[in-house]
Amino acid sequence: MTEQKTWSQRFESALHPAIARFNASISFDIELIEYDITGSIAHAKMLAKTGIISREEGEQLVEGLERIRQEHRQGLFHPGIDAEDVHFAVERRLTELKGDVGKKLHTARSRNDQVGTDTRLYLRDQINQIRQQIREFQAVLLDLAEANVETLIPGYTHLQRAQPVSLAHHLLAYLEMLNRDWERLGEIYQRVNISPLGSGALAGTTFPIDRHYTAELLNFGGVYANSMDGVSDRDFAIEFLCAASLIMVHLSRMSEEVILWSSQEFGFVTLKDSCATGSSIMPQKKNPDVPELVRGKSGRVFGHLQALLVLMKGLPLAYNKDLQDDKEALFDGVKTVKACLEAMKILLQEGLEFRTARLAAAVEEDFSNATDVADYLAARGVPFREAYNLVGKVVKTCIAANKLLKDLTLEEWQALHPAFADDIYEAIAPKQVVAARNSYGGTGFEQVRQAIQAARSRSNNS
Ligand code: ARG
Repeated sequence: MTEQKTWSQRFESALHPAIARFNASISFDIELIEYDITGSIAHAKMLAKTGIISREEGEQLVEGLERIRQEHRQGLFHPGIDAEDVHFAVERRLTELKGDVGKKLHTARSRNDQVGTDTRLYLRDQINQIRQQIREFQAVLLDLAEANVETLIPGYTHLQRAQPVSLAHHLLAYLEMLNRDWERLGEIYQRVNISPLGSGALAGTTFPIDRHYTAELLNFGGVYANSMDGVSDRDFAIEFLCAASLIMVHLSRMSEEVILWSSQEFGFVTLKDSCATGSSIMPQKKNPDVPELVRGKSGRVFGHLQALLVLMKGLPLAYNKDLQDDKEALFDGVKTVKACLEAMKILLQEGLEFRTARLAAAVEEDFSNATDVADYLAARGVPFREAYNLVGKVVKTCIAANKLLKDLTLEEWQALHPAFADDIYEAIAPKQVVAARNSYGGTGFEQVRQAIQAARSRSNNS
């Protein structure tokens, strides 16, 4: 028998090596090491403060834990499968460094409340980082919007040209989506930020611990009121993956547009060499790999959300080992969102060039000003539905004659309806079509400028 390691003397023989590998989480939960150490330091301080261990013992533990942190940061700490998980790895190293006092660290604690604490500390940091990334992303969108208030682009419904819009307005739609993401993460943070430490294995502990003290040391906003809930709740991770999935939905929609826009069929943007890739066989190709990867990676984040929902749905109280399997999903979800936010930000910042001449031509060459003709008549007293039907007929005749609305002569307009005057031409010019949609939240330039300003002050104030 190899030396008995982590569990009690109840066991007579060692684990089968394949089972040890299967059971171990060290290969991925090493990600939590800094948080594990921070959580353990708070626990050790609490043990000393409450007199559960002596002050000197507390100091020894903290010193040893800080030493492990340094070893880890210097790349010197590499626990193997035999450590099982990060919690055992740290405790074992502590005992190597500090002798028997190291064995006191786990008094009044279980790995169950410990892992819950670590995961929450980790996620708190990640949420802060992602929110910061969102703000940086928004700043790039804002700069791009500011430079393109009067750049026109066809607006679509059903992917059919509908009405021209300001390119800034189009970009600001994403800014709003991302703002909800930013807010949502802030709300979720409140529920991530609750301490389960001191819940013990499931039922609390016989020692006179002070849960509020550890929570305070770790800057938690509160403590779990029920120890069984404390050790088995993963709502916070699911909520995060839900928010992460929505971020990916938004990035993926944006990606889809960039992919379409960069196609020869649309030709609205050119990808710069720094953010595009070539083909191994077709020398002429320039591929939008970045947005394609982002669009593709959204699937795995949705998958992680699904995985955790299914992981949780049948679990009896309280801790079950199934819960160990939350980590890879959560970690990968975090990494994927961060990587995608970064790549898309770079793409927008320096990887795209809008082909403004092509855009200007695009808004001239279709019937996306037809609503404006109907509005023109409606503003002059013709009931809107009547005007709409009349313009429908005009469009049909124009298509047959291979003409656009702007090609009709004033006589032709007036033959259709006497309310038409020569200001119809200005009313249907793309720039005017956009400028005129000055209703709150619309694409009118004035509205767009106000929206940019509002977004700037929103970001500056938070
Ligand atoms: N590695 C475990 C996890 O991630 C730590 C908790 C183990 N608890 C237990 N009762 N076996 O969930």
